[in-house]
Amino acid sequence: MPTLFDPFSLKGSTLRNRIAVSPMCQYMAEEGEVNDWHRVHYEGLARGGAGLVVVEATAVSPEGRITPADLGLWNDAQAEKLRPVVAAIKRWGAVPGIQIGHAGRKASANRPWEGDDHIPEGDSRGWETISPSPLAFGGDLPRVPTEMTVEEIARVRSDFVAAATRARDLGFEWLVLHFAHGYLAQSFWSDHANQRSDEYGGSAENRGRFLLETLAAVREVWPEDRPLTARFGVIEFDGRDEETLAQSIGLVQQFKAAGLDFIDVSISFSTPHAKIPWGASFMATIAERVRRETGLPSSTSWYISDAEQANALISKEQVDLVMLGRPLLADPHWPYAAARKLGLEHPASVLPAPYAHWLERYRTA
Ligand SMILES: Cc1cc2nc3c(=O)[nH]c(=O)nc-3n(C[C@H](O)[C@H](O)[C@H](O)COP(=O)(O)O)c2cc1C
Repeated sequence: MPTLFDPFSLKGSTLRNRIAVSPMCQYMAEEGEVNDWHRVHYEGLARGGAGLVVVEATAVSPEGRITPADLGLWNDAQAEKLRPVVAAIKRWGAVPGIQIGHAGRKASANRPWEGDDHIPEGDSRGWETISPSPLAFGGDLPRVPTEMTVEEIARVRSDFVAAATRARDLGFEWLVLHFAHGYLAQSFWSDHANQRSDEYGGSAENRGRFLLETLAAVREVWPEDRPLTARFGVIEFDGRDEETLAQSIGLVQQFKAAGLDFIDVSISFSTPHAKIPWGASFMATIAERVRRETGLPSSTSWYISDAEQANALISKEQVDLVMLGRPLLADPHWPYAAARKLGLEHPASVLPAPYAHWLERYRTA
């Protein structure tokens, strides 16, 4: 029976435990480039003891940013600035991962703490957005995107490949394709966003085409010995959930056949009218089903904050990793607190020696 603090191996990577830092946009970049904020943030998370640290959603092109302050990986200057982040994550024993994505119709927004809404049309800070169909998300995101041509679809696919190539050359060991949360790839999959009548819309086969083609193209450049993973919104919570989930699982089976190594099970967020049943680890049973029916190692996040609950998800083999977001913002040393709660013999050993030495003595004093 695996436990939260057992290592996890996939392809050529071994995580020291089953705790992963979920990708979390910091909205602190200029020109898509890493600065001191990101360096301190990611180094602190790696030092805190997680097995995997996934760098936030990083845009594959300028129009693919959620806000003007997102990280990007569409040029070499951005790649160079990321290099010390990779080194810092590795220095403290975590596996460095990165999520690459395109925000689609949710792009061109203000930072969450500055409105979390679309930048008004005509404001020079904003830009034209693109999506499978000219349908706005709605609510605070009313901007109507331009419908992508087939040439643009091919261009964005190559942008994913170029970003993946840069991530590979930087030494990231774990790649997460952002196929979730109502951004571009999810918008192809969701009929709340995709009303196309060509080969990229309509049937499940057509709506899945952009995701599968992107995955297959990235697989060509991403090394075989490094995990290629995706975060995918498998459910809408719009009242048609059994049908969506069954179709999503079918698509994940195709991802697996196309070379996906691991699936992070998440939510679609493609309609503001979704009724999401928020609650402690509420996505776990859905993730367990995806894992069982696809045979892919998997993870999930959302309201997993208690160590015993996290450990139970691992030991019942509902997921292989827990992806933690806000619990790690609240306490980057959450793994140490969890190790204490679960009664590990040397809980401080999850931290580097300059902390661990003193905490061990303090504990036994
Ligand atoms: C500040 C913040 C930024 C986030 N940015 C991303 C992101 O870049 N990519 C992503 O897939 N999810 C993002 N999320 C979602 C988290 O990865 C995570 O799934 C979510 O917070 C639920 O986990 P939690 O309950 O442990 O926080 C973000 C969440 C937060 C709080």
